[in-house]
Amino acid sequence: MKTLLTERVGIQHPIIQAPLAGGGDTPALVAAVCEAGALGSIGATYLAPQQIVETCAAVRAATQRPFGINLFVPEASLPDDIAMGTAVARVAPFYKELGLPPPEPPPYAARDFDAQLDAVLDGGASVFSFTFGMLPSAARERVKARGLMLAGTATTVDEAIALERAGIDMVVAQGSEAGGHRGSFAGPIDAVAFERGMIGTLALVPQIVDAVRVPVIASGGIMDGRGIAAALALGAVGAQLGTAFLTCEEAGVPDVYKQAILEAHEDQTRITRAFSGRPARGIINRFMRDVEAPWWPHQFSILPFPLQNALTRPLRAAAAKQGRAEFLSLWAGQGIRMARRMKAADLVAALVEETDAAIQRMSGQAR
Ligand SMILES: Cc1cc2nc3c(=O)[nH]c(=O)nc-3n(C[C@H](O)[C@H](O)[C@H](O)COP(=O)(O)O)c2cc1C
Repeated sequence: MKTLLTERVGIQHPIIQAPLAGGGDTPALVAAVCEAGALGSIGATYLAPQQIVETCAAVRAATQRPFGINLFVPEASLPDDIAMGTAVARVAPFYKELGLPPPEPPPYAARDFDAQLDAVLDGGASVFSFTFGMLPSAARERVKARGLMLAGTATTVDEAIALERAGIDMVVAQGSEAGGHRGSFAGPIDAVAFERGMIGTLALVPQIVDAVRVPVIASGGIMDGRGIAAALALGAVGAQLGTAFLTCEEAGVPDVYKQAILEAHEDQTRITRAFSGRPARGIINRFMRDVEAPWWPHQFSILPFPLQNALTRPLRAAAAKQGRAEFLSLWAGQGIRMARRMKAADLVAALVEETDAAIQRMSGQAR
């Protein structure tokens, strides 16, 4: 199946394993996806520069095929006077329940984005994608000068147009079904903007395809070949799947997380700020329910990203060790019932076969 994506990146199938920041996308997963003819991606945002170097080297040692890498754009600076007390107190009982010492207000240490980018550019990836906004122009130029393809994430047509105007090579259209963080960035980033950017993949992809000339990749709720065929029918050049790859044997998330995905239904995820401070879709669990309980004033009890992420990190790490899914950020999309436990190579092979079958069915029905 040839599309602009397969031709430009040099892969066999128009399928991308989404970057899965937080440990899902182990080098073993990324390399297995690449070896199977799709594009594996490293979500490098939470990795220190040296870890990025090592992760890329591990992928390169296992495959010579093209792979992708992804960073969140640098965060806007936060005000100095954020009141931490209520948010810290809100999570303290959960710390206690997991046997941790009481939480401290998280220090705000800005990521060294430039050092991360240096490591990314030396890592040997073919595609650099970003989310949460517009990559600064100096960074865009550096990525292009090194010959990587540049892909940005859009949740609305306006965001896609802004990316195209900035010279981005491909747009990842992220529908509201998507698991993980929302990439919304146009306009003031408040709750209303995130709500406005909640557009389903089926509606979003063709409207972005109509509005920009650059190739569009569909993302959000795509779990099998039917979804990939649908994305191609809507005008996308490929599909980016996150949740589908999380239950692969090579994926690095805790087993209780994989199990939760395999057991959950399409009505059991929602968008939450409880874990990171930025809206993201995950399986509803006790931590989400308690921290966002309707009687609790969230504006004081949840810190802005990335502070809330830092505040809940020890909790999530302890929960992973103890196998307590009720305290994990179980990022997953609405196609969750279609998740399957497989080796990554088998999943890619199944996706390819199902896509072919779906396309044949469509053309058979059309005749
Ligand atoms: C666990 C997890 C981590 C993710 N991390 C990233 C990331 O680091 N960068 C990014 O651009 N998107 C990230 N995403 C979002 C994916 O790129 C994609 O939009 C989403 O997975 C598509 O929806 P699906 O999960 O229904 O396939 C993540 C998604 C999940 C589920």
